Amino acid sequence: MSPSEPSLRRAAAFAPSNIALTKYWGKRDARINLPLASSISVALADLGSYTVVQPQPDLPEDVMVVDDQELDPAGMVKVRRVLDQIRELSGSSVYAGLRSVNTVPAARGLASSASAFAALAMAAAQAYGLALDGPLLSRLARSGSGSASRSVPGGFAIWHAGHRADGADSFAEQLYAPDYWPLKVLVARIGGRKKISSTEGMRLQGGGGSPYQAAWIEQCQRDVESCKEALSLKSMRRLAEVVEGNALAMHASMIANRPPLIYWQPATLAVIEAVQQLRADGCECCFTIDAGASVVVLVEPQDARIVAETLAQIEGVEEVLQTHIGPGARIVESREEDL
Ligand code: DP6
Repeated sequence: MSPSEPSLRRAAAFAPSNIALTKYWGKRDARINLPLASSISVALADLGSYTVVQPQPDLPEDVMVVDDQELDPAGMVKVRRVLDQIRELSGSSVYAGLRSVNTVPAARGLASSASAFAALAMAAAQAYGLALDGPLLSRLARSGSGSASRSVPGGFAIWHAGHRADGADSFAEQLYAPDYWPLKVLVARIGGRKKISSTEGMRLQGGGGSPYQAAWIEQCQRDVESCKEALSLKSMRRLAEVVEGNALAMHASMIANRPPLIYWQPATLAVIEAVQQLRADGCECCFTIDAGASVVVLVEPQDARIVAETLAQIEGVEEVLQTHIGPGARIVESREEDL
């Protein structure tokens, strides 16, 4: 540690997972996760990641344990990308020990990397003595995993695609607080670990793999505007049209990719049909699907029970998690036994 080292200390943060209402699926710069289109999301109240960061002068390199397993080399590259920027901002050269616990099942299309990198950025900034504003924290989280940018502000968030090559204008901010439209969020969990990660899927599709790529990105740009309008009106009919249409357009572009990116399982389609039937029967709900087989359903509180019960009965649905829209990343108490 050099004499000018800033004050270093253990710090912990919790960040929520988030579900995109209009998706991020396409990068203009894969190195720092700059997207081709803006996207809108909701943060999930109690599904997320708790991460502790402890800078340690005696460590030869950063080490991270996630859910009791040492993080793989590909994950470490992304973690280091975030930590190196924080060290540069703080003027420190000290490596850190990190531990993260997810309350979201990893690799089931529930965006655990989003919460993990948002919690990492927030805890690490604090551990290295930095007081950073929301946009900068969101940019740091973004460089680890794009969707993590939206877990920093939480609530109803928009991630601006930005135009700059250095990504300075590509960050997320809150559109509305969590209680603006108190929808329930149901996660119909389907299937095991997904075979192709989002990072790899986007890489495959970005290299000219999908004949629909350009049309998909143009659709996203229109959908962001329609989604903002549906939210401003709190109209479930309008929201369903844009959110379901956007998810289906993304999966159409994925399925048409060569090689094909097929994330669905039979139960995925069964849930889609059930949600559409429930809505035809008067339930205020709509679905979305990330890069996985699981389906996420947004529903007005009065209809949550009937929707959850219906989804739980579908063959192939392993579990229906119930949550609501919650706040963004925050510093929490760190405990010595966590590291
Ligand atoms: C389908 O943010 O996980 O969930 O930036 O490569 O880490 P990287 O990808 P990631 O991709 C998320 C894709 C998505 C859609 C979304 O969350 O907007």
